[in-house]
Parts: sequence; C-alpha cells; structure tokens
Amino acid sequence: MNLSITNFDSYQEKYQQSIKNPDQFWEVIASQFKWQKKWDKVCSWDFNQVDIKWFEGAKLNITENCLDRHLPQKANDIAIIWEPSEPGQPFIQLTYQQLYEQVCQTCSMLKELGIEKGDRVCLYMPMVPELLIAVLACARIGAVHTVVFGGFSANALAERIDDAGCKLLITTDGAKRGHKIIPFKQIVDEALALSKHIEKTLVYRHLGEKCAMQQGRDIWWHELSQNQPSEFIAVAMDAEDPLFILYTSGSTGKPKGVVHTCAGYMVWTAFTFQNVFQYKEGEVFWCSADIGWITGHSYLTYGPLLSGATTLMFEGIPTYPDASRFWQVIERHRVNIFYTAPTAIRSLMAHGTTLPEQFEMESLSVLGTVGEPINEEAWQWYFNYIGKRRCPIVDTWWQTETGGIMIAGLAGVTPQKPTFASYPLPGVQPILVNENGKEITEPSTNGYLCIKYPWPGMLRTTYGDHERCIQTYFSTFPGLYFTGDGAFRDELGMYRINGRVDDVINVSGHRFGTAEIENAINLHPNAIESAVVGYPHDIKGEGIYAYVIFEQNEINEEQLIHEIKDLVIKQIGKIAQPDYIQLVQGLPKTRSGKIMRRILRKIAAGQYDELGDTSTLLNPECIEFLKEGQKSLMTSS
Ligand code: PRX
Repeated sequence: MNLSITNFDSYQEKYQQSIKNPDQFWEVIASQFKWQKKWDKVCSWDFNQVDIKWFEGAKLNITENCLDRHLPQKANDIAIIWEPSEPGQPFIQLTYQQLYEQVCQTCSMLKELGIEKGDRVCLYMPMVPELLIAVLACARIGAVHTVVFGGFSANALAERIDDAGCKLLITTDGAKRGHKIIPFKQIVDEALALSKHIEKTLVYRHLGEKCAMQQGRDIWWHELSQNQPSEFIAVAMDAEDPLFILYTSGSTGKPKGVVHTCAGYMVWTAFTFQNVFQYKEGEVFWCSADIGWITGHSYLTYGPLLSGATTLMFEGIPTYPDASRFWQVIERHRVNIFYTAPTAIRSLMAHGTTLPEQFEMESLSVLGTVGEPINEEAWQWYFNYIGKRRCPIVDTWWQTETGGIMIAGLAGVTPQKPTFASYPLPGVQPILVNENGKEITEPSTNGYLCIKYPWPGMLRTTYGDHERCIQTYFSTFPGLYFTGDGAFRDELGMYRINGRVDDVINVSGHRFGTAEIENAINLHPNAIESAVVGYPHDIKGEGIYAYVIFEQNEINEEQLIHEIKDLVIKQIGKIAQPDYIQLVQGLPKTRSGKIMRRILRKIAAGQYDELGDTSTLLNPECIEFLKEGQKSLMTSS
C-alpha cells in the first residue's frame, strides 16, 4: 500500500483534489485497504447533530489490515521492537508472523473470558508488548478498547471504567518507572473497590513481584494463554462500529470518552503516517508516546502497523538511568524516524550537547514533534544537535478528537518553518474565525482554529453523552468543529498553533481541565473555592498554578498545601499535581460573580503590568494580596 505524496507540487494538487472532490479522493485512498465488503457511500455528515459517517456499509477488521494483509510476504519482518525500562536488559523483537499469532492467542483468551463484539475492555498497563497485543486483540474480536494511562490514580481509573461500563480489565503486577516501582495491580484493586462494572481482570506478570489475586475475578495471563490456538478469525465490523474510547480532559469537570470508529480511523492513521513521516519500507519508526495517549494509539500502534512498518516501543523514561537514554535507544536500534514531544526535547536540552554527541545517530532521517507548541530554541536544538541539520522536522498539530495528524509538514516534501505546524494535510479544511464566528481571510492573522469539513479520523461522539459532543465541539461556532486552539496563519498559508484558548492546561503535552483539578481541590474540607490556571513553564510548556480560598481556623498552611496536593494526586494522579498552591482570601470577580481567570493567569506568570483595568472588579483590593502572595511563592521555591 502506498499512500504517499512525494513532492510539493503533488501535495498541492492532491490537496486541491481532496477539497474539490473529497469522496473521489478518499475512495482512491481507501481502495488500497483490505475490506470484507466495500462501502455504499464514502461520506455523509451533519455538523449540527454531529452525525458523521465514513465508508458506510463497508465491513472490515482493522487488524486484518495491520496483520493478515502483510502475511506471508512480511512474515519475518520485524513488527515491534520492545526496549525495556532497564538499559542492560535484552530487548524483544516480534515479527509480523509472531505478532499475528500472539494477537490471535489473546483473542481466544478474551473469548474465554466472555468478551464479545461491542464489550468494553479497559487496559491499564505499562508499556509492555502485551499492551499493544491486547489492543489489537480487542480490535480483532470487536471489543472496544479503552486504554487508561498508567499515571492515572485509582480514582481516575475507576471513573473511566464506570463511564465506559468495562467488563474486563487487563493489567500487570507492576512496572518500573525510572527508579520507582509502580504497583499496577494494587492500584487496580483500589479502583475496583470503587467501581461496579469489572467482572474479571487479566494480569500479565511483568515484574515477577508478589501481588494479591482475588479468586474468581483475577486471572494470570500466563496461565490462560497456555495452549491457545494461533489463529482467530477477525470479527467483521461495520465501518462505523466503535473501535476505541479514549478519555481526555476538557474545560468542564469530567473527562470525556472520545469515540473513534473502525474504517475512518484506519484510513486516516495510515494515510497521515505515511505522508507526514514519509515512511519507507524497512525503516525503524520510534514514537516515544505512551499507548495511554492518542499519539501512542495512532502512531505507535495503528499507523505504523497498517503500513507494515517496524515500530519501536520503549518502556522507560528519557532521563533514566540518565539523560542520554533516548540517544542510546536511537543508536541501539538504528532508529530512522523519531517522534517525540517538545517537553522531552526541552528537558534533554537542559543537559547540554555532550550527551547526544556520544552516540551514533546517523540512522536518523526524519524528526517529529507533537502535543504542544515548540519554541524556537528547542526546535533549533533538535534540528542542529539531534538531526545534525540533515533531518526535516515535522511539527504535527492534532488532538485526541482528530484521531490523527491534521496540520503538519510532509517530511522533506513541503517547506518547513520553525515553530509552525505549517500546512493542512489533504482532506483538512481549517479556517480561522473571530469571536463572532466570522471567517478571517486576511493573511498574517490570529484567530480561533476551526475545521469546516469532516475528515475520516474525526471523533464521532463522546461516549454515553452525544449532547456533550455537540456542545463541546460544534456549538461555539455553529457549523464548524472548534478545536479549542488559537492559531496564526502567515502570508503563505502556514499555521502556527498558539495554544488553548479554553480552560484546558497543556502540561508536558498532556491535557487537564482546570475544572477537573479544581473539583479535586474543593474536596478538601478547608477549601472554600479554588481557581486553577496555567503559567509558562520552561520545560513543561505550562505548569499548574492553583489559588485556593481556605477556611481560616487553626489549620497549618503548609500542612494544608500538602494535603491539597495529595488530594489531587489521589483524585487524578501525580501528573496533575499543582506546581504552586497559593492560599488566598479572595479571588478577583466581576460584579456578576465570575472569577477573572485572565487576571489570575497574568499574576501566576508574574506579568503584573498586563493586568488591564481592574477597577470594575467587585473586589479590586484582592489584587495586591494576590501579587504579594505570588512573589513570595516564587522567591521561596
Ligand atoms: O493545544 C493543542 C496541543 O495539544 C492539544 C491536543 O491535546 P491531546 O488531545 O492530548 O493530543 C495531544 C497529541 C496529539 C491541542 O488542542 N497540540 C498538539 N499538537 C500540537 C499542539 N500545539 C501546538 N503544536 C502542536 N504540534
């Protein structure tokens, strides 16, 4: 299957075709996949009700396209390279034939556990090959996978299990993350004490540590996998059957289960993977994201496997045992394409250039970034010291909701400009609008980034609450999908993404709703009200800053801050822990009682001269106290 556009003229031509006659464009692309039955209609859509269908009437199974289609020709080609957390440990390679067999065996295990088409299965696992295998096994049997990132707490896990109504949970005994041991099974046990749905858990022994097993509920993977057949017929799925649910944070309190469906997601991830990265047969592709996030779904798992690529899966973290680990892995596995987050680049950049210089990274030909805006300094460092000025950088803008890359360069094919995600991919029709929803057509302008036409990989609903999907994405600017991002478009039509314009904070490329963190803080009996904002952070992009109005009794303030942090860790996970908590007596409010977050963001960033007119506030006197508090927090840290 070759979906690639290989020169700029052809990109422009294909882009025009995809806009003028989308159905014809996608029909040609889609015809290269394996279908059990062809579609009746390429696309039908209604953005008001959010009723979107691609390849309606078709039958397929995405895993036949990830696995069966590559056999027997690629039977001995490496599908996955797994690099363990500990550098001295042996790595694992699975060929396409081996991966196929293991996925089929796992399907039989799922069947034995009573899993059928349409059931939801929760995966809460570290980055071990069995996670990827379980994802594919769910897809093959027609179950809907919902992967929960291993950094989420028991409470957050339970909330997601219940929202999705998962029947089965797959986990491991534990895992190492850097120097720490994460007791996955113990966290699962805590979550299951809070949740109602799970009937069985399947536990993969990874660490070999002792863990409690509940009779009748918990089953060892290695026991159930004995003597399972290495063939399993893929279940025929309708094009619009759900493939997975992935939870993501929005501006309101509860995370949303973004639903992606089988056919459109398949076509979109393969098409974007091959074009953006210009993948060539035999190359090793490394996406450093965890499968718990959308990037790990689309560009560690589905996109590469649909393309018959070799995908590298890394269990560890960039700074363990030291900050050269990424470069070691690139050298060890002769990685050709490396895709990571700006936050990782910034944190490694802080260790200087001597570490990457010690490794042979000549194999690299393309670099990519994702998840947050990349600043010029980090871009230049990545380009000069990792890519040695030879490797194009693709800055890829997209979202959990978009399923795959939307705006990005095609490596070495389209022009690049540091800090700009650049041009939309074929099929993507972005527009910038002002606050009234009016399209801004002038060059060199900022605006709210919206998309005006459906693309195959877009979300179809938010699980169990379609109205929420309509309200969140399609109501702010009727008739358009609103991304929640602000963007700048230059005179050449290139886009630079400025960041979120809603109440979402992007910490190290991970999204958190301010309301989600506030809800956790407000559970503390001494917290009366809180307001969480993002502030610029050198490494993480944005840090989390919480203002908390508290009940002034005997309480020790240091203790209170500590307890609030613990509460957030318990409710969401360590990843959402505020960097700063400022205890306050009041928050700036309008006369109608609305908290002025704009002012709070400026104070948290120390930008006191940019507060604007504060005289119309209900309580302007609180500003001075807030500034004083911020200053003393910064000096004491
Ligand atoms: O603000 C944008 C930012 O990440 C948000 C999407 O987050 P999530 O759904 O977690 O998906 C992250 C991985 C695809 C966007 O709304 N974002 C993502 N990529 C970029 C970006 N901001 C700037 N440049 C990017 N390349």
